[in-house]
Amino acid sequence: MKSTFGVITIVAFVFAAGVSLAADPPAWAYAIAPAAPAGAAPATPAPPDTSVKHLPGSTVEFTRAQISDGFGPADWYPGDHPKMPDVVAHGKRPDVRACSLCHYPNGKGRPENAGVAGLPVSYFIQQMNDMRNGNRKSAEPRKANTNVMITIAKGMTEDEIKAAAEYFGSMKWTPWIKVMETNTVPKTRIAGGMYLTLEGNEKEPLGQRIIETPVDAEGTEVLRNPRSGFIAYVPVGSIKKGEALVTKGGGKTTQCGLCHGADLKGLGPVPGIAGRSPSYLVRQLYDMQQGARKGPWTELMKSVVTGLSEDDLLNIAAYTSSRNP
Ligand code: HEC
Ligand code: HEC
Repeated sequence: MKSTFGVITIVAFVFAAGVSLAADPPAWAYAIAPAAPAGAAPATPAPPDTSVKHLPGSTVEFTRAQISDGFGPADWYPGDHPKMPDVVAHGKRPDVRACSLCHYPNGKGRPENAGVAGLPVSYFIQQMNDMRNGNRKSAEPRKANTNVMITIAKGMTEDEIKAAAEYFGSMKWTPWIKVMETNTVPKTRIAGGMYLTLEGNEKEPLGQRIIETPVDAEGTEVLRNPRSGFIAYVPVGSIKKGEALVTKGGGKTTQCGLCHGADLKGLGPVPGIAGRSPSYLVRQLYDMQQGARKGPWTELMKSVVTGLSEDDLLNIAAYTSSRNP
């Protein structure tokens, strides 16, 4: 009798969990820009800005083209990080763009890509291999820069991967994203998978989204300032709801600390998730749920993500990002 009851409970639980599964990709986390309306006149490109740019505390200067040069982007603060391996600083033509372009020389990265500083070396290498052999993709095929990342991984040698993994792994993950609960947010536009606040201080309701945006839109978008971080606006109450799921499982998932460390700062080869980008985190959890990310190590995350709804993913990310790394 007792065991029958057990089976029924499990079936009921699995069914309930199945119902709550996040169905469509959480659009706010993937930040795909809406297509231009049919028949719209193409925007006239602005004349290239060839002026020389500066940043406070930096002794070097760059033009916009130099700042975003895929094979040798700006290194504003060489004293902030160890000497970069060549593949990190310059990449390798034709397909391997410099890691420092998107992830910054200090590995902090931006919400549309990933923070790679402080990742365990073996985890980093495993991810590159998963991308190389088709085990790690985005569940949203329009997420263009993930596709670029996969091309980059495929173009690298094992030695280059190891050098990059050791370089980024040698730096600690430090606070980079300020998490703030709020009901209203500045109006934003999407540029290259990132939300940028519009000029004019207009606000809109946040709703059930997380909006992660640069503290200084121009400093991040145009200058790629690796010292200028982000702010993540999260719904009021989400951090507390996330805390219950992360620390207790809430009957839907496994306590994250068992594998990611009690303080979520990582444990052995398992990466830290404290203080990292909430939009990146939600994309990964959703990609895992959909089976777009399915490497051998991802198996351990399978039962963790199965029963989580989109709101659960949001709440979990609000909490983990608010933790001190
Ligand atoms: C064009 C931008 C771009 C460049 C250049 C780039 N990356 Fe990435 N990288 C991404 C994006 C986007 C992701 C997130 C992938 C996803 O959605 O799963 C990522 C993710 C990663 C991850 C996974 C991080 C994690 O926490 O699992 C690693 C590791 C990584 N990149 C290493 C590199 C290395 C090494 C280089 C240089 C050889 C590089 N990247 C260059 C955009 C880039
Ligand atoms: C049973 C062990 C285990 C538990 C429990 C667990 N994780 Fe993981 N987690 C892993 C492993 C192993 C990886 C690396 C997966 C891979 O290589 O694809 C991982 C990867 C991740 C990643 C991707 C990190 C990145 O940089 O891309 C996120 C996000 C994550 N876990 C969040 C969570 C959350 C949130 C919880 C709790 C709700 C949780 N994990 C519980 C083992 C676990």
